[in-house]
Amino acid sequence: MPKITVNLPQDSYEIAIAPSSLAQLGNKMQKLAIGNKVLVISNPEIFEHYGETCVKSLESSGFETSTHLIPAGEEFKNLQSIQQVYDTALANHLERSSTLVALGGGVIGDMTGFAAATWLRGVNFVQVPTSLLAIVDASVGGKTGVNHPQGKNLIGAFYQPKLVAIDPTLLKTLPSREFRAGMAEVIKYGVIWDQDLFTKLEASDRLDSLDYVSEELLETIITRSCQAKADVVSQDEKEAGLRAILNYGHTIGHAVESLTHYKQFVHGEAVAIGMVAAGKIAVEMGLWTKEQTQRQDNLIVKTGLPTEIPSELTVEDILETIKSDKKVKAGKVRFILPTSIGEVIITDRVTPEIITSALKIN
Ligand code: GLY
Repeated sequence: MPKITVNLPQDSYEIAIAPSSLAQLGNKMQKLAIGNKVLVISNPEIFEHYGETCVKSLESSGFETSTHLIPAGEEFKNLQSIQQVYDTALANHLERSSTLVALGGGVIGDMTGFAAATWLRGVNFVQVPTSLLAIVDASVGGKTGVNHPQGKNLIGAFYQPKLVAIDPTLLKTLPSREFRAGMAEVIKYGVIWDQDLFTKLEASDRLDSLDYVSEELLETIITRSCQAKADVVSQDEKEAGLRAILNYGHTIGHAVESLTHYKQFVHGEAVAIGMVAAGKIAVEMGLWTKEQTQRQDNLIVKTGLPTEIPSELTVEDILETIKSDKKVKAGKVRFILPTSIGEVIITDRVTPEIITSALKIN
């Protein structure tokens, strides 16, 4: 599988994609010119599957390795968990040249990155993502952080990893629901950036489980998605403009997640609902055609992802919630809307009337 580089003004880094990436981790990290102390951060389930391979690889490459486990789940993505990471870092005498390795999904990656950004004003950080969502989205691009009781990811920093080591074989233990959730972000890249990826997904009969995805298609999914993310982040690291396109489907998606108290949908499912809604808004505004939105929605259905805003939510609920989204700029809600397969625009011209008419809910 090819290597991808995230090109940045400072500290560009490699996304290494290979079935042996985990076993080769120590070897790859030796080339980074970093100190010999490593703290691996994971959750108990992931660590049980992959911890031994990870630690063995690091130790056989000469790294002095300690571990810190955080229980799985969004409810542990908070400053108390970060405090405990700091305690372990202190107990193991980590230095500025030391490295935190995130072995896990998006929650572990975001928290490890934030701890790395802040401990000793910044230690090295390596991502080893284990979920499809983390592989194609969260592990690349340096968004790190934790939740505040009032909202998700309100505390955080842009802090880039030194390396993203992707081992697609780790996906074999991923529950199917999590696989589908990751696929929502893959479909997103097809719509916003990569028409060819979109048509390759269309050519596949089933996408609702890894069991139906050939090795070749999985390679395409991972490499094209990571390349899309790397392209965007390389052009706009801190989301001054272009990077906002990665939030396609997230405006209404976040509202649905928040209004259902993060219990009914996992993030990717809410993004799928948000993409369907954004497609309808784009049709309403004459930006793209009914046929194009149908093609998008067909892919989402084929992946077994939800498409409908739950009937108990009203359009007032949605409108009220999107106004408080952290991506609101100068009081205006920004939408990412498709203009063709592979192209989107960022616009603040979406009025409550357009949303109401497009969504035709309550
Ligand atoms: N997940 C959106 C971004 O990284 O910008």
